[in-house]
Amino acid sequence: MLGNFSYCNPTKLYFGENSLNDMNMELSKYGKKVVLIYGGGSIKKNGIYDEVIQILKNNGKDVVEIAGVMPNPTLPKLYEGIEIARKHHADLLLAVGGGSVCDYAKAISVSVNCEEDPWEKYYLRFEEPDCETLPVGCVLTMAGTGSEMNAGAVITNPETKQKIGHVFSDEKIMPRFAILNPKYTLTLPHYQMVAGIYDIFNHICEQYFSNEDDNTSDYISEGLMRSLVYSSQIANKDPLNYEARSNIMWTATWALNTLIAKGKSTDWMVHMLGQAVGAYTSATHGMTLSAVSLPYYRYILPYGLQKFKRFAVNVWGIDPAGKSDDQTAEEGIHAMEMWMKELGLVMSIADLGVTETMVEGIANATLILKGGYKVLSHEEIVAILKQSME
Ligand code: NZQ
Ligand code: ZN
Repeated sequence: MLGNFSYCNPTKLYFGENSLNDMNMELSKYGKKVVLIYGGGSIKKNGIYDEVIQILKNNGKDVVEIAGVMPNPTLPKLYEGIEIARKHHADLLLAVGGGSVCDYAKAISVSVNCEEDPWEKYYLRFEEPDCETLPVGCVLTMAGTGSEMNAGAVITNPETKQKIGHVFSDEKIMPRFAILNPKYTLTLPHYQMVAGIYDIFNHICEQYFSNEDDNTSDYISEGLMRSLVYSSQIANKDPLNYEARSNIMWTATWALNTLIAKGKSTDWMVHMLGQAVGAYTSATHGMTLSAVSLPYYRYILPYGLQKFKRFAVNVWGIDPAGKSDDQTAEEGIHAMEMWMKELGLVMSIADLGVTETMVEGIANATLILKGGYKVLSHEEIVAILKQSME
């Protein structure tokens, strides 16, 4: 391993069927005013809302709510939430939901005491907060983003058609605690479950497909990918299988809590393409990734051939005997494609609402990053997007 790094992740995790009870220990650390943040109402239907309210009441908290945080939370919704948190002098922001709700809570956290416009400061200039931030806690209901144990917060500006993620470097922005109860994910619709699974897989790919030195992080990644593929195939057929769903939830957390990026550069171009598609369509995050992945990976494969060969052998069990490196690598991508189709992932951006006339704008909205095997040009991005339409 050739990289230099520091590592600190202060999020305290409570995992398992009874983990919500552990929130009692956490709540005593914060003041009375809790801003409870949730999405479009799934937590009211499946009973999680009632359980959380009960615990908050038992701990003598005054609860103010921010409801209706949409998937891919928007800037106007962020402004609304900042006002509520300010007005009620929040002591703790408690996110109950998926990545959207958790990201949104972090975006409020860094904005409540900030005098500048958060969009400009954090999402256009990528600055770090220089004001006091609010603590965030998370009760996770969807496995996918890893937001429960990282400092990322993605916000969409519908007016300018930009979806931008800021991964803050200050670990204070990471949730102080996260409750991970796999049972809470059992009510997810199949579409969201598999979108989350692909999001997890792609987070690992984004960190795996870079560099050529021998790095422990890549071995951890291969183990996580194998576990995820195995559990996903069980959960796809039997969504109520607790063992599979709990493995998926735990893998999601480790896929993006910064560990497997240590000592490496990272790629993240599938996410840049997917986010630009998301800015134009508001499509489900994991599906924007699945729809652009194969054209992207097939395109960069020759530039990272040895890693793609290793991926084929170590993740997909392809036997390289008697085959050229190209052939082995392509068989790995083919196995990945078969798995994606088995799960029922969206494989074309046309199916997410992208039309020919949007392609140029989506390409312009795609941030070009330099950590992967090939730095793409604008024309190459257009070509990949066009292939993703098929
Ligand atoms: O809003 P409700 O009614 O709760 O419904 C949600 C939403 O419609 C539903 N859902 C969640 N848990 C459920 C459930 N439905 C039934 N039962 C449950 N237990 O699922 C839908 C999607 O939820 P959302 O939170 O949007 O999904 P996800 O966790 O995939 O989060 C997506 C957001 O996170 C960002 C994405 O860009 C997107 O904005 N990301 C955040 C990252 C980070 N913080 O590091 C990294 C990721 O790459 C990603 O970019
Ligand atoms: Zn993602």
